[in-house]
Amino acid sequence: MDNFIFHNPTKLIFGKGQLKKLRDELPKYGTRVLLVYGGGSIKRSGLYDQVKAILNEIDVEVYELQGVEPNPRLSTVKKGIALCADKAIQFLLAVGGGSVIDCTKAIAVGAKFDGDPWQFITRKKQVEDALPFGTVLTLAATGSEMNPSSVITNWETHEKYGWSCAYSYPAFSILDPTFTFSVPRNQTIYGMVDMMAHVFEHYFHPTEHTPLQDRLCESILQTVIEAAPKLVDDLENYDLRETILYCGTMALNGMVSMGFNGDWASHNLEHAVSAVYDIPHGGGLAILFPNWMKHNLDVNVGRFKQMAERVFHVQSEGKTDREVACEGIESLRLFWSSIGAPSRLADYGIDDSKLNLLADRAMARGEFGQFKKLNREDVLAIYEASL
Ligand code: NZQ
Ligand code: ZN
Repeated sequence: MDNFIFHNPTKLIFGKGQLKKLRDELPKYGTRVLLVYGGGSIKRSGLYDQVKAILNEIDVEVYELQGVEPNPRLSTVKKGIALCADKAIQFLLAVGGGSVIDCTKAIAVGAKFDGDPWQFITRKKQVEDALPFGTVLTLAATGSEMNPSSVITNWETHEKYGWSCAYSYPAFSILDPTFTFSVPRNQTIYGMVDMMAHVFEHYFHPTEHTPLQDRLCESILQTVIEAAPKLVDDLENYDLRETILYCGTMALNGMVSMGFNGDWASHNLEHAVSAVYDIPHGGGLAILFPNWMKHNLDVNVGRFKQMAERVFHVQSEGKTDREVACEGIESLRLFWSSIGAPSRLADYGIDDSKLNLLADRAMARGEFGQFKKLNREDVLAIYEASL
């Protein structure tokens, strides 16, 4: 294990009926609130009315930024920053999925940043402060509700980057599994792929001796593998929604990844694809991650074999380590296909015509990945295998 400091300041408020806790939490931070949400799902589900009713009760002045896009855009971040200045906003409340939360993080930091927000998103400038913000999560996927990360797309230049800072943790996040009942089947699937991918990003790290971390990761993967096939056919099952919501948060709140640096190359590869083609993040990961695994099998066959045996229960008798490892990767691909995730870029109509542009985007910050540094040749090989 590497030395580590763990500090996660987000207050997690989990369970049915917990939206009422907004009444206690929000007034701690101010009276001028910017409510941030997406394209309308919270209006259709009735959550918007519930939130507004509570905000009215606690007597705060509410302004709204609606229409945050899936794969949130820099232009919307800028709109939000301008609103914060105009209306002297003191607190932001994100109600939605990872995109709404990520956009809110960038607005909260941008509101206290002197300059173009793209500078801190591209990590060219440090930030020193942010407005406080809280979240009401509606989709189990990114873990953004309890981590400092945010992913923003500059649609003009087709660049999509992740960034984070000490000030971009939510002050609190309210997670009621019933708010995820209305997530459609496809988004539910993408979310579950995404949380599994976060665990895999941790799992394939170069640090020795992480036995507890390995087991924690494996238990999240097994829990999702058990619940996912049932949930896709029973979208309003409370117990399954609850399990998956908790898995999504635990997969990327730092609890299972202390003492090492995860790989994160597959995420970088996917962000390049969704920056150019605007596809769902989880869908892109389902296509790319198994091909990243195959490409890097020989970096540490033992690690892939461990995953195959412990997560997918591949029998190793009479097989070489490599055969077991390959079977594990194939089991993952088959599992994702079985719940309805895509497996080829062609499923999104993506062909080889922009492979060089994708590679340019992925390589924009140079070679990447902790388990194995990927160069341009590696990147092209993984994209080609994913066509
Ligand atoms: O916009 P609305 O109308 O709200 O609809 C959304 C959107 O169309 C809909 N939705 C959300 N909750 C719903 C619902 N529909 C019905 N009922 C509900 N309860 O789902 C669609 C997708 O929402 P989005 O927020 O985009 O999905 P997700 O949570 O998967 O977020 C994806 C974004 O997060 C980034 C991704 O790159 C992508 O931009 N990521 C953020 C991370 C982080 N901050 O830590 C890590 C991830 O790896 C990821 O990269
Ligand atoms: Zn992800």
